[in-house]
Amino acid sequence: MDILDNPLELCGFAFIEFVSKNGELDQIFKTIGFTKVAQHKSKNAHLWRQGNINIILNYQPESYASFFFKEHGPSACAMGFKTLDAAKAFDKAIELGAEPIHSKVGPMELNIPAIKGIGGMPIFLVDRDIYENDFIFFNDVERHPVGVGLNEIDHLTHNVYKGRMEYWANFYEKIFNFREIRYFDIKGEYTGLTSKALTAPDGLIRIPLNEDSDKGNGQIAEFLADFNGEGIQHIAFITDDLLDTWDKLKSLDLKFMTAPPNTYYEMLEERLPEHGEPTSELQKRGILLDGHTKDGQKKLLLQIFSENMIGPVFFEFIQRKDDDGFGEGNFKALFESIERDQIRRGVLNTDL
Ligand SMILES: [Fe+2]
Repeated sequence: MDILDNPLELCGFAFIEFVSKNGELDQIFKTIGFTKVAQHKSKNAHLWRQGNINIILNYQPESYASFFFKEHGPSACAMGFKTLDAAKAFDKAIELGAEPIHSKVGPMELNIPAIKGIGGMPIFLVDRDIYENDFIFFNDVERHPVGVGLNEIDHLTHNVYKGRMEYWANFYEKIFNFREIRYFDIKGEYTGLTSKALTAPDGLIRIPLNEDSDKGNGQIAEFLADFNGEGIQHIAFITDDLLDTWDKLKSLDLKFMTAPPNTYYEMLEERLPEHGEPTSELQKRGILLDGHTKDGQKKLLLQIFSENMIGPVFFEFIQRKDDDGFGEGNFKALFESIERDQIRRGVLNTDL
């Protein structure tokens, strides 16, 4: 296939679906600035929105989501990809070797075509406004709330068992014609991980895959044990103004991951000369900065992570200023901060 060939005519994320016990995730999504905008017509499921992001919280008993919950606990149990023609995309996916999910398993009344993705979770193929058909919107609630300024799903990651990265990269390459855009090794003092970032031909669906490195079992192994399998580790939402979004998230009492040490900010100018960002404002909030400012170019990315919020799943908040990476420069700092946390909690034995 040609590099720009888009066999399933993908055009971005449609939604992400989460499962937990009845009502348990509501407060979490409120804290991230989402609003419950609609109730499913026949199931115990709700549509939550912010900007162009659609989140479905599925609490329906005896559903595929509830079975997923029994296996994995509170988690992201499905995702939808937008496509121009779902039936055509489904046929093409099967032709390319995808495994169909035939039964009417989804949160919707419509039989939305789905294929089996990571950890057995469905990937729905969505070509229309499925929400109007299946949900009753609340009259007194804005249908497209601005929330804290999060506009889109920027990317989501998969944590995979050691040795399985090629399998999942091949899955996304073969079925959707994803391409590898980044590959990097992150080495902490005691453990390490390898990350391979894939992007769909639409440039909008980005999925980094993470695997523990040869250095030993670390944070990916801990996730896989907690989650009881391979799955979505974090979801990144994009904003046009991370400082403002951070202030709003803080006022909603969102808990961010431990801020980096002060030396991180002291070294920023050296790492990214003339970046022009307000360092003290970043430092006050623990926001990380990455990118390139060399050769007259200025490509920057601001990012910050939440604590684990849904089982071992956490969120990322990101602002892109022409940088299309994932904060690789910060990844090491983040990795080391998680590692420090693991040592503190006694999960990681440093005597080895
Ligand atoms: Fe990320």
